[in-house]
Amino acid sequence: MCGIVGYTGKELALNPVLSGLRKLEYRGYDSAGIALALDSGEKLWVEKRAGKLGNLEEILGTKIPNSHSGIGHTRWATHGGPTDENAHPHLDNEGKLAVIHNGIIENYLELRAQLEKAGHKFKSETDSESVAHLLSDARKKHNGDLAAAMREACQQLRGSFTLLAIHSDEPGRIVGARRNSPLVVGVGDGENFLASDVSAFISHTKRALELGQDEVADITANTIVISNLAGKIQPHNEYEISWDASSAERGGFEHFMLKEIFEQPRAIADTLLGRITGLSEEITNRIDFKEIDKVVIVACGTAFNAGLVGKYAIEKWADIAVDVELASEYRYRDPSVDSRTLLIPISQSGETMDTLMALRYAKDKGAKVFAVCNTNGSTIPRESDAVLYTHAGPEIAVASTKAFETQLVAMYLMGLHLGRIRGTISETLLSQIEAELAELPAKVEQVLETVEPLRELTRNFSTASSMLFLGRHVGFPTALEGALKLKELAYMHAEGFAGGELKHGPIALIESGTPVVAIMPAAGSLLAEKMASNIQEVKARGAVVIAIADSELKAADFLVRIPSTHEFLQPVLAVVPLQVIAYEMAVARGNDVDQPRNLAKSVTVE
Ligand code: F6R
Repeated sequence: MCGIVGYTGKELALNPVLSGLRKLEYRGYDSAGIALALDSGEKLWVEKRAGKLGNLEEILGTKIPNSHSGIGHTRWATHGGPTDENAHPHLDNEGKLAVIHNGIIENYLELRAQLEKAGHKFKSETDSESVAHLLSDARKKHNGDLAAAMREACQQLRGSFTLLAIHSDEPGRIVGARRNSPLVVGVGDGENFLASDVSAFISHTKRALELGQDEVADITANTIVISNLAGKIQPHNEYEISWDASSAERGGFEHFMLKEIFEQPRAIADTLLGRITGLSEEITNRIDFKEIDKVVIVACGTAFNAGLVGKYAIEKWADIAVDVELASEYRYRDPSVDSRTLLIPISQSGETMDTLMALRYAKDKGAKVFAVCNTNGSTIPRESDAVLYTHAGPEIAVASTKAFETQLVAMYLMGLHLGRIRGTISETLLSQIEAELAELPAKVEQVLETVEPLRELTRNFSTASSMLFLGRHVGFPTALEGALKLKELAYMHAEGFAGGELKHGPIALIESGTPVVAIMPAAGSLLAEKMASNIQEVKARGAVVIAIADSELKAADFLVRIPSTHEFLQPVLAVVPLQVIAYEMAVARGNDVDQPRNLAKSVTVE
């Protein structure tokens, strides 16, 4: 939801800013822009263009401006359409101060009216431009001190923001601030960075600093000063980034999504490492789990689907009530929550605004918060009592794949942990599941061997107008995830249903040739028989059935075989063919796989 990068240091700034933007483009691709402070102190060098970063790169030419500090922005439009004028950076009247912004300034209309009255000329329809004018006035008031100006401006802003600003009179200095939106500092050698996430600078440095809520970072090539809005210097927590630079590259793959699908065995193994027989005390000591009598999982999109699977596992193994809530609904319906509630927010980015706000709501009411997150140092883990980090590595494709797999694994680990401390899971079941968990990476690897024939099969359906997904038990949330992937990538109607619900309405959607993907429960189980009947019901009405099953299934028109596993763990295997179907359908329909239309990876607005 807008990517932001700032560079100051020994290199000519255009290259590190551009390469940072390439890494951040997954956050939004409605427009891109760069502002550089020229070493000569002349007026800022600014270029911006609507559309993807490639449009901006096309007009840049080969001449590299003589500048060692600059800022870059890639936009996901909220206020104002995706046009050149609305692209960031935004400038003050003199063209000497440039600002980039991620988030929403809620009181921008008020500010704009005041600033226009005072003579400021606006060029865009954005909420962000008001910050450039506000900062310009504040800087004058503070005798040219950009950091003091930023502190003052932030106190006048409502809403969420990450802001970076530069001024042509002070080449080499970048000032950033954050509230409810992400900003990390990259600590280099003779160079420093500010960015929405570490992928923008991991090829330069693995050292990063967390920035707290309402903090201002003032950086030059050799100095980093972090203060709060009152101007008090703040201590900061430096950490080592564990992701390596190559993990944010496409490798030999056509798309990031395909690469990430193939990275799933590794991601699962890394998330399981050292945790199968118990979570570390460093994590679990932070919450008294014996005091908990209810679990609430909050999340959005794919993470929500992982939470639904978590409900099946946690309720069964830990014998405790689990609600799974869409974060955007939860906080606005005044739910019952108290100090005996364990809230589990699930988030790949750790920055999703709806999930963060649900967390804050529950925390205010006394809930204990145990987050599942993939991004170290992001806001959700920082505001939680304990965190179970998933180790998916950077996920660049907008559609989530390996993060989902590791969120499922985190759900199982939590279910087992709660089952162990509550004494609700038998030793036999425990060791059976532990053994099956350990097998998952190899089994996902096996499923990946079916990818090529499945890609070919999928192409047969590329002109279908709709695709339905059926599942029962944990296969139901898996069906929801398959449908979500297809919608976002193939831009086609797709829905997931519980097999038992078919006859209550959705079966009316079936017509001759409708492709139906059936996720079969484990062979021999009672639910497998029920699903087999559901398959007959849709076939009798003309559906073409692609079954994902761990055994032969005559009724299916096409069969994708997956290895058998414990029934609760099956989504980890069954979702892989669903991801491949969505991927291939997007390719066949000529869609942008890694950056589907209208979407952004990290949704930091409500
Ligand atoms: C779908 C997808 C989204 C995210 C959702 C939550 O492929 O990626 O539905 O799962 O926006 O994002 P996080 O996990 O970052 O909170």
